Amino acid sequence: VKEIIVNTGRQKYPIIIEPHGLSQIGYFLRKNCLSRSAAIITDETVGELYSSRLMKSLDDAGIRTHLITIPDGEASKALEYTNSLYTALIETNLCRDDCIIALGGGVVGDLAGFTSATYLRGIAFIQITTSLLAQVDSSVGGKVGINHPLGKNLIGSFYQPKYVLIDPELLLTLAEREIWAGLGEVAKYGFIIGERFFGILEKNLEKLASLSDIYQVSEMIAACCQYKATIVRKDEKESGERRILNLGHTLGHALEAVTKYEYFKHGEAVIYGIHWAIWVSYKKQYLNESEVNKMTSFLRRFPIPSLPDIENTKCLLSKMNRDKKQTGNGLYIVLLKGFGKIQIEKVDDVSVYIEEWLDSIQ
Ligand SMILES: NC(=O)c1ccc[n+]([C@@H]2O[C@H](COP(=O)([O-])OP(=O)(O)OC[C@H]3O[C@@H](n4cnc5c(N)ncnc54)[C@H](O)[C@@H]3O)[C@@H](O)[C@H]2O)c1
Repeated sequence: VKEIIVNTGRQKYPIIIEPHGLSQIGYFLRKNCLSRSAAIITDETVGELYSSRLMKSLDDAGIRTHLITIPDGEASKALEYTNSLYTALIETNLCRDDCIIALGGGVVGDLAGFTSATYLRGIAFIQITTSLLAQVDSSVGGKVGINHPLGKNLIGSFYQPKYVLIDPELLLTLAEREIWAGLGEVAKYGFIIGERFFGILEKNLEKLASLSDIYQVSEMIAACCQYKATIVRKDEKESGERRILNLGHTLGHALEAVTKYEYFKHGEAVIYGIHWAIWVSYKKQYLNESEVNKMTSFLRRFPIPSLPDIENTKCLLSKMNRDKKQTGNGLYIVLLKGFGKIQIEKVDDVSVYIEEWLDSIQ
């Protein structure tokens, strides 16, 4: 069992990383008097696989449960679904002393978290993360939210959960493509945390993807959560240091947007985004050729879809400009000056860098 404490100054909560943890959650919640009644929000796939195990654990601990299932996929992170969740919660009489448990990946976590932040002006929120992406990234930091027809994640809040459970064994049912997409976010941590962690990923990438050693997978997840927790402690609301975690995300988000969120998984687009950030860093002479080769050979091992034809870089650029993380006039990009050495700076000739990069990889 590993326990990581996330402390934002205003709030403090544990992330427990524990294989088989799902069966013990009821005991934990009861012991900590967290609530007598819980609404479980899950999606169809995860609900089918794991809701009965979770409900049994809660029942055994004397906690009443209400199961609410939403369809799989990004389309559920919408106001219509939030509203239908409010209706279900009101109908089950869920009150302030009760809690909402998100059982699922990032979609369920973001939607259930946003619902928890707003239902009755805020109700306790517990996250049981089931996808690799959620386990290494969205479980830490309290960003919750939904999409708007004009853009992704535009409506939301910072709302910290009371408790996060990461049970790496749940990943064994996750589709291979989702595992690799989650590893895309892990790769980001590899570059940011530094050479030692990168070396572990470089040596074991395919083994980690195969999930053959759950202990090693747990260690990897813990390293990512620990790092993110340290950053969130210093900068909960992303006004400074937390922007480091956007490595690969400015171009990544734009690639997702121009392909209408249908072509790439998030972590796959992030891999291209990191690749581009390495290219810009090289052009600015922040990285030497051997560093670039080491970094890009690693990224090439990811089995991700090839880049689709991008008609013009202007549309990519306009999506990058609309990234809500960009403030003011400039386009701030997270660059690398080596493993674990980050430089966030305003880049002017972004379209030139994109065109040159596209030429270089096609
Ligand atoms: N809040 C944050 O800090 C944060 C960070 C990164 C991403 N996100 C959000 O996360 C979302 C993407 O998350 P995701 O990649 O987890 O997608 P997801 O939640 O849609 O899960 C991907 C698919 O895997 C299935 N699945 C999940 N766990 C499973 C399991 N154990 N076994 C079998 N199938 C399983 C789901 O049913 C779904 O079909 C995006 O909406 C993104 O905006 C949020």
